[in-house]
Amino acid sequence: MPPFKDRAVLITGASEGIGRALALELARQGAWLGLVARNQGRLEELARECEGMGARALVLTADVTDPIACHQAVEACAAHFGRLDALVNNAGDSMWATFESLEDPSAVAGHLLKLNFLSAMECTRAALPHLRRTKGLLVAVASVAGFSGIPTRTLYAASKHAMVGFFESLRVELLGSGVDVSIIAPDFVVTGLHKRALGADGLPLGGGTLDPRHVMGVEECAQLMVKAMAKRQRLLITSTRGKLGRWLRLLAPRLVDGIARRAVEKRR
Ligand SMILES: NC(=O)c1ccc[n+]([C@@H]2O[C@H](COP(=O)([O-])OP(=O)(O)OC[C@H]3O[C@@H](n4cnc5c(N)ncnc54)[C@H](OP(=O)(O)O)[C@@H]3O)[C@@H](O)[C@H]2O)c1
Repeated sequence: MPPFKDRAVLITGASEGIGRALALELARQGAWLGLVARNQGRLEELARECEGMGARALVLTADVTDPIACHQAVEACAAHFGRLDALVNNAGDSMWATFESLEDPSAVAGHLLKLNFLSAMECTRAALPHLRRTKGLLVAVASVAGFSGIPTRTLYAASKHAMVGFFESLRVELLGSGVDVSIIAPDFVVTGLHKRALGADGLPLGGGTLDPRHVMGVEECAQLMVKAMAKRQRLLITSTRGKLGRWLRLLAPRLVDGIARRAVEKRR
């Protein structure tokens, strides 16, 4: 029996990129999917695709930077399916500019913290009573930037470190409840994230896609995520350099700084 068959999973940021690929991967197993994002048209298209694969899908158009919208989306999903088995906190934005070049660092920090961290906190708060009933799973799509310093991503890394600290702590608070926490730390994945990333002026760059020959695709990332979620794995780091980097930084932190710098320069 596929682990997510007839299991209700709410995914934020489902209209594109990793969230969309994850929805399709779970749809193959016959999951019941709550699809959250702002772009209703894209969500409806995805819902039809998921239903065509034998899944159930509910479109929940919402801006997750609004705490009320987070709570409404979670409640609507749980009411529609009669249960909630997993919440995937995936919606996010990035930046691509050195800290000193930022015209208004507080505005960029405010946006990234609100979307990448506070939205996950609000959705989690709303989902926990439901997840306690099903002994369900909380998933935090963080980043390798949640564990390391990455140049040109200072405020993005800060938001992802916040996310990691929050979910690591919550996991301990939830010991014995049956609710587990999986933290996902993708390395570069080919998505629209790098086009939407905020530049020095605080606006989306509109360019800067990654080279798919050297960077993981969304399907592979989603497959790894579903496997990790099925095992209720504590942490998934999607790249070898990300896994090595975690340990290497204890022994040779400068070497890891150099690897991070070169990775950003080469965009791979
Ligand atoms: N791609 C990478 O290299 C990479 C690496 C590490 C971690 N990650 C993380 O993976 C997650 C997904 O990123 P991605 O690469 O798949 O990015 P993406 O392709 O840009 O997708 C981002 C998703 O978030 C949604 N979103 C953005 N703002 C929202 C808001 N205010 N309310 C609701 N939904 C919102 C977008 O949908 P709408 O525009 O329709 O709202 C979209 O579905 C992010 O948390 C990112 O930090 C990505």
